[in-house]
Amino acid sequence: MSPASTMFHASARGDGASVPRIDGARLIERIAAFAALGGLANGGVNRPAFSQADRAARALVASIAAERGFRVFQDPIANLFLARPGAPDLPPLLIGSHLDSQPTGGRFDGALGTLAALSALEAIEDQRIATGVPVELVVWANEEGSRFSPGTMGSQAFARRALPDAGLRDADGVTLGEALAATRDALPGAAERPLGFPIAGYLELHIEQGPILEAAGLPIGVVEAVQGALWLEVTVTGETAHAGTTPLAARHDAVAALVEALARLGATVMEADPAARLTIGRLASEPDSINAVPRLARCTIDLRHPDASRLAQMRAEVEAAVAAAAAGHGCAGDIRPLFSAPPTAFDPMMADAIAGAAARLGLGSMRMVSGAFHDALPIAGLAPAAMIFVPCRGGVSHNEREHVEPAQCIAGADVLLGAAIEAAQGLARGASSADRLQRDKRNSA
Ligand code: HGY
Ligand code: MN
Ligand code: MN
Repeated sequence: MSPASTMFHASARGDGASVPRIDGARLIERIAAFAALGGLANGGVNRPAFSQADRAARALVASIAAERGFRVFQDPIANLFLARPGAPDLPPLLIGSHLDSQPTGGRFDGALGTLAALSALEAIEDQRIATGVPVELVVWANEEGSRFSPGTMGSQAFARRALPDAGLRDADGVTLGEALAATRDALPGAAERPLGFPIAGYLELHIEQGPILEAAGLPIGVVEAVQGALWLEVTVTGETAHAGTTPLAARHDAVAALVEALARLGATVMEADPAARLTIGRLASEPDSINAVPRLARCTIDLRHPDASRLAQMRAEVEAAVAAAAAGHGCAGDIRPLFSAPPTAFDPMMADAIAGAAARLGLGSMRMVSGAFHDALPIAGLAPAAMIFVPCRGGVSHNEREHVEPAQCIAGADVLLGAAIEAAQGLARGASSADRLQRDKRNSA
């Protein structure tokens, strides 16, 4: 009986009795240890991409790797990879997530998936589990895109085999090139890997960042797709004037125009379509003086929708609202796209491997679409990919209150381990879809 069928046969009972598991206590300890890197007083984290705190987190991953004898690699955008000693030089199944965070983020967003993948890699090594294709850990650089836009910068660069503009500047004027060089230089022991080297597949564990699993009372989400995302920068330009002496008819008030457009979008887009998401995350004006009519108003708009044509319609609604309001105030409007990711479906074989792993552990699961984008989105265009979700309390995320119960963290990591073993064995047999894997299961039973 081949290892694959042994694994399937022995664990078919679904009680989880003889299924490989990760070291749960060590995972929980590490979540706390990483949360201290960029830790905030209220328990959240502020670990911007390529910051000192991000470098400290990467260094901690590398030091754990060194203790375990894992080989450490990084590529030109500072994506970090860990490989088991002696693993064959074949395209690997990557498992992982990101370690950068929002400015007032939670300790689980990205870190849970990264540390669970590290635990899974250790379990494969310690339990000498045959995986067919090698399994490697990946820590994607700059998933959040909060300091340097766009989001999923590292995984996009990997997928496109092209670096972003090194001249991008953060709010303090630091260029991406400077921050990236300091980050890569901080891991002198990491060997080089090229952008976009061949991979066999990708699996990512992440917190749901929404309320669905908690409401359903289920511990595992089998993520089959990610909704589309579009980031826009809206700029309205008018003319500054004296706040006290300038009558309405003489004003070209950029803030008044932008506020009118945003009020109109806020009253229509999400009201008319429960699946639509519109968020104004940043808002600024110039000259930003109490007693001067603003000559410039600028904001960002984050649009999300599972349907590509609706996302395009939402963009058109933004453009129409900005144009009408700017004209009405004698101003000019400009809209610049910052980031765009189409709705993307994941690979059925990878999703089934997740569902199978959950079932073998006796864990209930449901199929779902991700409301947040993730590094699995650009990577899904390169190789079979899928994601595992675990519930977070109240669906709260991108917030210091973000919380996942320890048992749920461990359950998610155990599912990641089981799915990675099954997927890696399936990929080694050339399976890249559910029907091929089913056929193989039948043949090897
Ligand atoms: O914005 C997102 O969807 C991701 O959580 N960075
Ligand atoms: Mn994330
Ligand atoms: Mn996030």
